[in-house]
Amino acid sequence: MQKDVLLEVENLHVYYGVIHAVKGISFKVLKGSIVTIIGANGAGKTSTLKAIMNLIRQKKGKVLYKGKDISKEGTHNIVKMGLTLVPEGRHVFPNLTVLENLLLGAYLRKDDEIEKDLEYVYYLFPRLKERKHQKAGTLSGGEQQMLAIARALMSRPECIMMDEPSLGLAPIIVKQIFDIIVKLKEEGKTILLVEQNAFQALKVSDYAYVMETGKIVLEGKSKDLLNDKRVKEAYLG
Ligand SMILES: Nc1ncnc2c1ncn2[C@@H]1O[C@H](COP(=O)(O)OP(=O)(O)OP(=O)(O)O)[C@@H](O)[C@H]1O
Ligand SMILES: [Mg+2]
Repeated sequence: MQKDVLLEVENLHVYYGVIHAVKGISFKVLKGSIVTIIGANGAGKTSTLKAIMNLIRQKKGKVLYKGKDISKEGTHNIVKMGLTLVPEGRHVFPNLTVLENLLLGAYLRKDDEIEKDLEYVYYLFPRLKERKHQKAGTLSGGEQQMLAIARALMSRPECIMMDEPSLGLAPIIVKQIFDIIVKLKEEGKTILLVEQNAFQALKVSDYAYVMETGKIVLEGKSKDLLNDKRVKEAYLG
């Protein structure tokens, strides 16, 4: 394993009963980079992220985080090791306040720096600070996505996986979300970004994989894929 590889997936398969959703994919995420997986509906992107977090039972293959095989590790241990997932569809707790949602993101931690990290996420998302006592269910879609990202940050991850963070958001909010993703990288985080918004994802990322029906069909530097004829035709309209 290369020294600067933070996350590595080797020959991953995911099954739902007889459905073979992910068919033996392999990829790497280098420390400090943004890697994206793009692909159409049903390609197997969410299944891949869930399998990495060990949220799916029927799977095969190896997942290495910091060189350690985590494929049989409990999800909470994976989070403790510094790898976290912002799930598709946000999933904030609607009846809890913004602050309560954020504190839940830190529940596995035992250190005394939670206050400091709250200040950090409020600095990244001033909107959440203004609304810290508001029920999460009454936030706008964009604010809920910000809260979902902020909550993940409260576990102090080194590597953050995000599943379609821009889905269903207005263009101006989409831009804010992608700006935050770039900022997180600048602050030293490593990001694995799953997106259907291929154009934005390729613009902010360093390296990209294209998934189709459970397989990786193309990979390369994001700036090269932005100009790739096949990618342009299939994903960039
Ligand atoms: N719980 C499940 N039971 C049965 N099949 C499932 C289940 N979850 C996903 N699948 C199937 O697995 C395949 C891959 O789904 P997945 O959600 O990973 O795709 P995706 O790339 O994330 O798509 P999208 O862009 O629409 O979110 C699809 O054919 C889907 O119907
Ligand atoms: Mg999905």
